[in-house]
Amino acid sequence: MMCTPHWHLGRYDNHIYDVQGVFDETVRQLHAHNIPLKLALGAEIRMCTEIVQWAQQANLPVIGQWQSKPAFLLEMSHSHIPAGIENLLMWLKQHRIQAIIVHPERNRDILKHPEKIKRLHDAGAIFQGTAGSFTDTFKSDVQKVTWQLLEEGYFAYVASDMHDLSRRYNQMAECRELISQHVGDEQAQALTLTIPQSITQSINWQ
Ligand SMILES: [Fe+2]
Repeated sequence: MMCTPHWHLGRYDNHIYDVQGVFDETVRQLHAHNIPLKLALGAEIRMCTEIVQWAQQANLPVIGQWQSKPAFLLEMSHSHIPAGIENLLMWLKQHRIQAIIVHPERNRDILKHPEKIKRLHDAGAIFQGTAGSFTDTFKSDVQKVTWQLLEEGYFAYVASDMHDLSRRYNQMAECRELISQHVGDEQAQALTLTIPQSITQSINWQ
């Protein structure tokens, strides 16, 4: 399980020093209770100018590698595509750091104009879809755009984005089944298993 706490300055003021201790304690508890679950520590980072600084200081929490580049999860605001994001993506591209934009299907600009995702793709981003967006966790327009983006080939892979056991639970199994029915089992397996596995295999699992 890849742990991706929000880093959202002003809202979730997490930094590596805050989350590392909690993560280490969680790993200790799993071992103490003989729970055979491996964890790794990443983050979901809300777009901000500090990303450049964190990258320069090698403090950017990565979830693995994409095409031999360190890869991290980048979150846009839900309301719109943030101003300046293409500049940030191009800076990251020049510095051989891969931005994975999470749940683009829940961004209201993209919901209204799905074609706007192309600008982000062309600036170097890849995209992580949320399993619950394929089912009916979010509003129906999210579900519709999610399937459209899948058909257009925008999702590099799908993740649970699990937050809890009730409202935002792990929906990977039902999502995989739905994708399999739509586009076949081979693509479903790649999107939900083999691609995430290949990205995260290089990371420090504990
Ligand atoms: Fe998010």
